[in-house]
This record gives sequence, C-alpha cells and structure tokens, in this order.
Amino acid sequence: MTRTVYYTATSLDGFIATADHSLDWLLSRENDADGPMGYTGFLAGVGALAMGATTYLWVREHDPDWLPERPAWVFTHRELTAPPGADLRFTADDPAQVHAAMVAAAGGRDVWLVGGGDLVGQFAERGLLDEVVVSIAPVTLGGGAPLLPRRVELEVLECARNGEFVVVRYAVAPAPAPA
Ligand SMILES: NC(=O)c1ccc[n+]([C@@H]2O[C@H](COP(=O)([O-])OP(=O)(O)OC[C@H]3O[C@@H](n4cnc5c(N)ncnc54)[C@H](OP(=O)(O)O)[C@@H]3O)[C@@H](O)[C@H]2O)c1
Repeated sequence: MTRTVYYTATSLDGFIATADHSLDWLLSRENDADGPMGYTGFLAGVGALAMGATTYLWVREHDPDWLPERPAWVFTHRELTAPPGADLRFTADDPAQVHAAMVAAAGGRDVWLVGGGDLVGQFAERGLLDEVVVSIAPVTLGGGAPLLPRRVELEVLECARNGEFVVVRYAVAPAPAPA
C-alpha cells in the first residue's frame, strides 16, 4: 500500500535549510546512502514525489542531475520550466487533488514529500501524511526554513545512527476523534 512519506534531513533545532537556503551544514557531513534508513533503500520504494518551488529551484541551481527518474510535481504559482526529459508537472492545485494523482502514478510504491516544511504541513492538515523520516544533523542553525511548522502527533517506529546523523522514522498518529 502506498505511504506518503516526508523524508528529509534537519538540524537539531528543526531547520532544513539556513535562512539563505544553504545546505552546507548538511552536505559536508558523513552519511551512508546504503546504511540504516539511507537514501538508496528509501528511493527504491518511491514511485512519485512532490516539492515546493524553492526546493525545485535549489535543485536546478546546485544539483541539476539529481531529479530522480520518477514522476514529480512542483508546487508553484510561477511559470517555471523543466529540464529536458524530466517527468515534471508544475501545479497550484489543491494538495489533495495532486496527492490522488501522485498515488495513482506511484503504482503501489510510496509518495515522497521532499519539502519544504509548509508544503508538507498542507498535506498533513488534509490527513495525507503517513510517515516522517528525519536524518538529524549534529548542528543547530538558530533559524532558517522550518522542518514542519504544524502540530503533528508522531509515534517512533525506528531509529538508528547513520554516519554523523541520527535517523528516526515516525508514524503520523491518527487525528483524535471529535469530542
Ligand atoms: N534538508 C533537506 O534535506 C531539504 C529537503 C528539501 C528542501 N530543503 C531546502 O529547504 C528549503 C525549503 O524552502 P521553502 O521553505 O521555501 O519551501 P518550498 O516548499 O521548497 O517552497 C515554497 C514555495 O512553494 C510554492 N508552494 C507551496 N505550497 C504551494 C501550494 N499549495 N500551491 C502552489 N505553490 C505552493 C510557493 O512558491 P510560489 O512562490 O511559486 O508560489 C512557495 O513559495 C529550500 O532551501 C530547500 O532547498 C532541504
């Protein structure tokens, strides 16, 4: 069954990028993509992904070959362009509508919410987030792009050390029934 997973790396104080969108605090650290809850195994289970415009533009500028060979949705109100051959859709539709399309495209594999945090929050508040997997870097940033700026109750499923990171996999707890 398809799960919708926010898989990301964060500083200890809950930021996924500095205020000026730098990831130097993250990319300079040791991490084994084939290690516990590493990127290789995670990506193998992903059938579709979504991200916000800032994340997409960061990828275009810094790591243009990264876009995985999976159908991907980019949330934006701007007229952005895709690199040649990329399976990308730009959308400002409601996340619930996009989620249904992503699940269909994923063909039973998981949906990856790449970030940023507010976009993931929009999925969470619609009840469309199943798991959060965070690799916690041994650093505090004091500010920046937030990990998940919503209240979301979580249950720890798994945790491990991977290189310099502590990785934790959480299930999103079901919303309490109305009183
Ligand atoms: N640590 C990590 O592993 C990791 C992972 C992912 C991202 N990052 C970084 O974290 C930062 C995230 O940036 P961010 O907080 O600005 O978040 P973002 O989600 O990447 O981008 C926010 C933009 O997405 C668009 N958007 C969001 N929701 C939308 C909706 N419902 N409909 C249409 N458009 C929507 C808007 O763009 P428009 O202005 O076009 O409307 C909004 O300004 C980036 O620097 C990224 O590189 C880090």
